[in-house]
Amino acid sequence: MARPLIVAIDGPAGAGKSTVSKILARRLDFALVDTGAIYRAVALVALRRKIALDDDVGLQQVLDSLDVSFHMEGELNHVFVGAEDVSEAIRAPDVSLAASQVSARPVVRAGLLELQRRLARHAPHGAVLEGRDIGTVVFPDADLKVFLFADPTVRARRRFEELFEKGVDKSIDQVLSEQNTRDKNDSERDVAPLKPAADAVLLDSSVLPLSDVVQRIEALVREKQS
Ligand code: DC
Repeated sequence: MARPLIVAIDGPAGAGKSTVSKILARRLDFALVDTGAIYRAVALVALRRKIALDDDVGLQQVLDSLDVSFHMEGELNHVFVGAEDVSEAIRAPDVSLAASQVSARPVVRAGLLELQRRLARHAPHGAVLEGRDIGTVVFPDADLKVFLFADPTVRARRRFEELFEKGVDKSIDQVLSEQNTRDKNDSERDVAPLKPAADAVLLDSSVLPLSDVVQRIEALVREKQS
């Protein structure tokens, strides 16, 4: 049997990574490792334990006891901390903000490296990992690296429509401004900033429909498998 392949999908929020990674993992029968969800789980536990988000000793304790797992069910990739399904809790606005803060702490990034690698390597056929630094830091030797990006206004509109469907009342300008702040934090931080790996395939989802993005990546993976 072919050895498990590692597919890294990096890029900013709102470029379509989650949708693309989910479809791809299902089509390829690969595990899906949503690394953003892992950072969110750390943030959730820290908030619940009232640990300050810059308290490296406290954060290390969260990491030492962290038990995160994923369970695919139909369209949904459920995220568990221990036995609790935290899929919804980790998407709350305060957790999103806290996730972006803890993800800038070197202690957190270092502490999650092995976990991300283990989750991917344990997959029998291969794994799709989505994040910001998969191709640059977590798996610099990934079999395939994709950097999926899109025009900021296109990403903000997608996010606005998602929120609108959920009944969240925010203007496009507000969504765009929050997105700009997050993009800036992600790409300007000292450790593992968001940037394409030198050998990444760059795909722009403002001009390419997500179905085409999936098709292109799947074709590249099949090439590697043959
Ligand atoms: O993709 P997301 O919005 O669920 O990610 C949550 C936060 O974690 C976001 O602030 C970016 C950060 N993150 C990261 O720094 N590195 C990753 N590999 C994945 C996410």
